Order: sequence, then structure tokens, then C-alpha cells
Amino acid sequence: MNDMTITRAEREAKLEGMGCKRKRVEDIRFTQGKGNYVDDVKLPGMLHGDFVRSPHPHARIKSIDKEKALKVPGVLAVLTAEDLKGVNLAWMPTLAGDVQMVLADGKVLFQNQEVAFVVATDRYAADDGINAVEVEYEALPVLVDPFHAMDPDAPVLREDLAGKTEGAHGPRRHHNHIFEWTVGDRDLTDAAFRKAEVTIKEMISYHRTHPSPLETCQCLCSFDKVKGELTIYGTFQAPHVIRTVVALIAKIPEHKIHVIAPDIGGGFGNKVGAYPGYICAAVASIVTGRPVKWVEDRIENLCATSFARDYHMTTEIAATKEGKVTGLRVHVLADHGAFDACADPSKWPAGFFNIVTGSYDFPTAHLAVDGVYTNKAPGGVAYRCSFRVTEAAYCIERAMDILAQKLGMDPAELRLKNFIRQEQFPYHSALGWEYDSGDYHTAMKKMMEVVDYAGLRREQAEKRAAFQRGETREIMGLGISFFTEIVGAGPSKNCDILGIAMFDSCEIRLHPTGAGIARMGTKSQGQGHETTWAQIIATEIGIPADDIMVEEGNTDTAPYGLGTYGSRSTPVAGAAIAMAARKVKAKAQMIAAYRLEVHEDDLEWDIDGFRVKGLPEKFLGMKDICWIAYNAPPPGMEPGLEAVSYYDPPNMTYPFGAYLCVMDIDVDTGVYKVRRFYALDDCGTRINPMIIEGQVHGGLTEAFAIAMGQEIRYDENGNVVTGSFMDFFLPTAVETPHWETDFTVTPSPHHPIGAKGVGESPNVGGVPAFSNAVNDAFSFLGSTHIQMPHDFWRNWQAAKTLGAV
Ligand code: CDP
Repeated sequence: MNDMTITRAEREAKLEGMGCKRKRVEDIRFTQGKGNYVDDVKLPGMLHGDFVRSPHPHARIKSIDKEKALKVPGVLAVLTAEDLKGVNLAWMPTLAGDVQMVLADGKVLFQNQEVAFVVATDRYAADDGINAVEVEYEALPVLVDPFHAMDPDAPVLREDLAGKTEGAHGPRRHHNHIFEWTVGDRDLTDAAFRKAEVTIKEMISYHRTHPSPLETCQCLCSFDKVKGELTIYGTFQAPHVIRTVVALIAKIPEHKIHVIAPDIGGGFGNKVGAYPGYICAAVASIVTGRPVKWVEDRIENLCATSFARDYHMTTEIAATKEGKVTGLRVHVLADHGAFDACADPSKWPAGFFNIVTGSYDFPTAHLAVDGVYTNKAPGGVAYRCSFRVTEAAYCIERAMDILAQKLGMDPAELRLKNFIRQEQFPYHSALGWEYDSGDYHTAMKKMMEVVDYAGLRREQAEKRAAFQRGETREIMGLGISFFTEIVGAGPSKNCDILGIAMFDSCEIRLHPTGAGIARMGTKSQGQGHETTWAQIIATEIGIPADDIMVEEGNTDTAPYGLGTYGSRSTPVAGAAIAMAARKVKAKAQMIAAYRLEVHEDDLEWDIDGFRVKGLPEKFLGMKDICWIAYNAPPPGMEPGLEAVSYYDPPNMTYPFGAYLCVMDIDVDTGVYKVRRFYALDDCGTRINPMIIEGQVHGGLTEAFAIAMGQEIRYDENGNVVTGSFMDFFLPTAVETPHWETDFTVTPSPHHPIGAKGVGESPNVGGVPAFSNAVNDAFSFLGSTHIQMPHDFWRNWQAAKTLGAV
């Protein structure tokens, strides 16, 4: 029976369902230092592995002598490529269809490449062992600049590909060429440019950077020789994919591989791929018969595991003189480093970069991407973004500002003129996507009103005049970014990883007393899934979120899923959760109908149970239904109340947002100050507004870092010069600006609860807002485009080049 002593609002509040600012349940253990990370897992007899790494970016290996290392106290084994060849693991497949050396085989191709793996009783002994391994190198010419990768006399990097004119993604034109990927209508686009009244062309680079999560990549492998079982604890964003890949390449039956991803201290794309450390730790455990742990240090993380971006985008827009865009042409030179290890769905060599038409109604567009090898670390991961969407958003948002400047038009007005209109959704873009929903004009106008955009432009005009009169040395920039993301990979018909279809899953099991457990194929790395997934279930089936335990990361218990990256969790697993909950609810309805002695159709859902239509006192709550399901189900019905859903989305979701950055720059020092940053996000139905705000704060902080200084830089000899936090900009609370957040709600029409992803959006939209602010500040001095990152030194240099200093 219904508890009549509490109101409907109180019953609803008790659930802490969708829309509630529920506090993060996982923080109870994190804030007390009680998290359980890979480094906390210690197994009896555990050994430690560490890498000998190459000081050379390109060199032939003449010899490796392990004798002295094996005499170091505590060192038990030293693995080289020759040892791995015995088990056919000297090379491993990458997610992008290439192969990658696990340990250097004949030569090294980037500085800090893994050359040998030393296994010892503790980390210190392993380190001593590393210093005792003697490697003789013969230096080879180094290729750093991707623009020279396909020169006729460029050094041959990948000797293993000699003579191969076909790669995983089609023909190769040169020994350092990986692929060419083209999308769109070239002839139509060329015609649009021939007819154009106004055109712009700019080479817009998105520099190489790195996700640098606080916890580096690590694993602990334990092979049980008696059972023939391999248990792997690891920092895995996609535990099931790791299990399947290990089964395929190590030929261990998949049911004998147990992958456990415990708490993870940030991933941001860094923990999607497979790294040599995982293979070496597994082989070392098989060889020694003892558990082997591998934990990379900060320098190794920055220099060897998975960089992001490194896209050089020559961008052209055709338009009328009134500012209506008529065509977009982009050529990307993609620097993939020594191996193509991009973490993109298999069929997409440049990820979803073809979202580059952005929020604008381009009648035609053409895109060509050339991937090339250089002597740099491999990777190309989606650093808090959905597969190259960040690069695309930066490209188009910078280009729109450049066009506005050429037309002498306000960049906000240009955007409003070219937005896809609300009535055009679902919208088919010129480069092949179907945008699910959007209301761009409302979001943009709300942003302009809240920040008083017109007032800020007036203030800027006054400041510019004062600068010209010599009354101030400060310049002011307004950086607009209006981004459209594409998240939720993906429909399995066009998204897979090494042939594994990209769906996701949820299993819900309710216990007799009305509490339950829910397991998913996703894996939180800080996004708060334990909190929000329970909220979806609470709203769907009326059991308080506090009574639902969410568990992820154990491949033995969780249903198969493709993991968490590219903001796919809410669009895909979030949908699976709702669908599993609805299956549970359907059975609950049958039970309620039997108990209340009515037909199922005579029942209606009411917050936390079923009520007979027109008879408010005839009510059965979900908690009671749980008890009945186990102890007195209707005749002929199986006991229990649980369901599984594997959800293959019909489309991706397209969150969007309107951001504005107000920045002041002192031209004499290059020092900038972010005076105001406003971020309006539309992620459809909002599950937990507080978590969304936290996601936006975190993403904006990373965007700020990337735009204003964070970079993996190589010198002309191939040395990494930003290999530690002394040189790689990681903002602390001191540097981080204040964030103002806002929202509109445009639900996704195909998602069961109307939700779109949000985690990546602030990084995607944030970077162009910062960069446009810097460029807008300098534009009146005659510049059209200044490359990122915009640190103090580069700002000062820009001022100098423009004659302001
Ligand atoms: O895949 P990932 O978890 O990184 O990204 P996401 O799907 O954007 O979700 C990040 C966090 O924001 C999760 O805890 C979601 O439940 C939450 N979220 C939300 O509360 N409402 C949305 N519409 C989207 C995400």
C-alpha cells in the first residue's frame, strides 16, 4: 500500500532520481583516501617491471647486453624483442589497423621507446637493472616535421612496411604515408569556391598535447599456471576490449582472462589503448610464474603513452559578401608519430573529424586527411573529446572568426546568419552526419544576453581607441565558440574497434527487500557513474538511488560493453540502463496487475509504484513488488526481478554549446588575464546538474591548459622538451579562471531519456573560445591567425611581430 503520510513531492525527492543534484557517492571513499587504485593492489610474491627506453629518436640497435643487469641484486629477468618473438608478441596490433613494436625490434623510432623490460623484486632493483642493461645504438637521420614527411629524400621510418603500397585505410603514396581519407563532394565544393564572392584560407594547427591524468597508466598481471588463467588489474577505460584483445593476441581462451579495472584516477583517452607495458607484464608473469606490476612514471606517461591532436588543418571557406557560407574545404596533415595507434573506431582513420562543418549550414564541403609517420611517440587519442571532434571544432570556430574579420562582420552575427535552423533537424550535414536535435539560435542569444555581448564590444572599441592613443598597454579580446559535438559511438553498423561492435550494456538485479545492484560495460574514471547511473534507475523504477549499487570494471561480472571514452557513456550505456530498467518495470507491472487483480493496462505508473487508474488507494510500491517477485510471483511466472540490456544506438547524439571568453592581454609582457568565461551547454535531458557542472569545470580547465600553454614539443633533433610538469602546463587552482555555467535543454529524440553526453563538450568548445579571444585581441593590429598555445612568451612575440612592442 502507498504511504499516504508523505506527499508526492516527498516521495519523488526520496528517490534522488534524474534532475536531482545528488552528491557523489564515490567521493565518500575518495575524500577519505580509501579509493582502491591499481597501485593499492598488492599480490603475494609480486614483482615489478620497468623499461629501458631509448635516448635516441631514430637509431638502429646494434646490440643489447643484459648480462650485467641480470647480476643486479633483485633482478630476475630482462625481456627484449628477441624473447617476445618466441611467443609471437614482439609486435602488437594497434587500434588503427597498424602494428607497433612492443619492444624495439632492430631499431627505435621515437625517443623513450621501450627497448627492454627489466623484472625485479622491487621497483628500485628494476631501476638499477635498467641502468645496467647495455644497448649499442647507431643514430639515424631524424624526421620531426610532418610537412617534410613525404619529401622524396625523407628517411625511411617503417622498414617493416617496405614496399607496401596499401595500408589499413587504402593506398600509401610514400614510405612515410599512412593513409589518405577523403569525404564530401570535391567537384561541387570546387565549384562553390570558383563562384565565391569572398574566400578565406588559413593553416590552423592544433598542436600535440597529452591527456596526462593524475594516475599514470599501470597494470598488474598474474598468471596462474595451474588453472591457465590470467588476471589483469589495470587502468582500463575499456576493460572488455582489453580482455578480447588479449585473448586474440595471446591466444588465451577469453573465459580464462579476468580483467579488473579498479578505481581510476582520470583517463581522458590516455587509458583506452593497449601499451607495451601491459604485454610485457603479462609475458613476465607467465615466464616467472609470479604477479608482475608495471607502473609508468610521469615522464614515461608524457613521452611514450598516447599523445593527442597534432593536426595541421589548411582551411578554406567560400561565402557571399553578405556572409552566407557556400563551401568549406579542409586539408589535414595528421602527424601520427612512429606507429598509427590512434584510438578511433576502425573505419574512421581521422575519427569523426568530418563534423568539421560544425553548427553551420554549409551546402557543400570537402575534406582530405593525410596521415604521416614521424619520429615521435604514437597515440592520437581522443583527449577528453570524441575522436578528433576537438580538432574539428577548433578548425571551424577559428575559421569562422577569420571569415568574420575579412567580411568586417561581427563574429556573433556571422554565426547567427549561418546556423542550422531549429526546423532543419534532423539535419544532414554536407560531410555525412545526421544531427539529431539542436536549437542554436536560442543558445547563442541567451549567451549574448547574459554576458551583455553588445556592451562588451563597446568596451573593447573604447579600449582599442585608448590603446591607439597610447593611454593603455592592455588589449581586450572576446572569444566566441559555438560548437556542435558528436558523441555516443556508436551505431554498430559504422562503429567498431578491431571488429568489436560499439554497443553498451546494463544488467539490473533487484533483491527481495527492494535494493539492488546494477552493472555496466562502462568504466568511470572520475565522471561519477556510481552516482548518476543509480539516478536513471531511480526515476525509471522508483527505487531510491541510495538503494542501488553501481558496479563497473570487472569483466567477469559486468555485461560486455565497449567502455568509457568520447562521452559515449550517457548516450550508449545511459540508454542501456533505461532500457534494462524498463524491462524490470514491465515484469513488475505484471506482478502488480496480478496482486491488484486488474488488467495490466488498467495500471498507471506513479513515482515509485503502480496505481489502478481512477482508484488512487489501490497502489503497489516497487519495494513490495520486489518481495513478491521472489516470494510469491504470479502462477507460471519465474521468480526474481532482473534484466539485461545491450543497447546499439540508432544514431549518435549531438550536444552543443555557446561559450564566451573575455580576456585582457598586456602587450609588454604577454601576460593574459581571463576576466570572464561563460559556458552554456546543451546536453539534452540533464541527469545530475551538479555532476554536469563539475564535468564542465574540469573540461574547461583542460581546455584552458591546452589553449594557453600545454604542449608536447620536440626539438629539431627529436628530443621531447616538455617531458615533465616543469615544462608541460598543468594548471593548478592558482592559474585556473572562474567558470560561469549555464544551460538550455534540447533532448535527443532517439535516446530513451533524451540525454546527450557532456563530459567532452567543455574541452571541445573551450579551446576555440580561448584561442579566439587571443586572436580577437590582436586582430585590430593586423593579424588574422596566431597559432596555439598562447602562452605569455608567444603573446609577447605576437605583439612584437605586429609592431605593438
Ligand atoms: O562517457 P563519459 O562518462 O566520460 O561522459 P558523459 O556520458 O558525458 O557523462 C559524464 C557524467 O555526466 C556522467 O556521470 C553522466 O551521468 C553525467 N551526465 C548527466 O548528468 N547528464 C547528461 N545529460 C550527460 C551526462
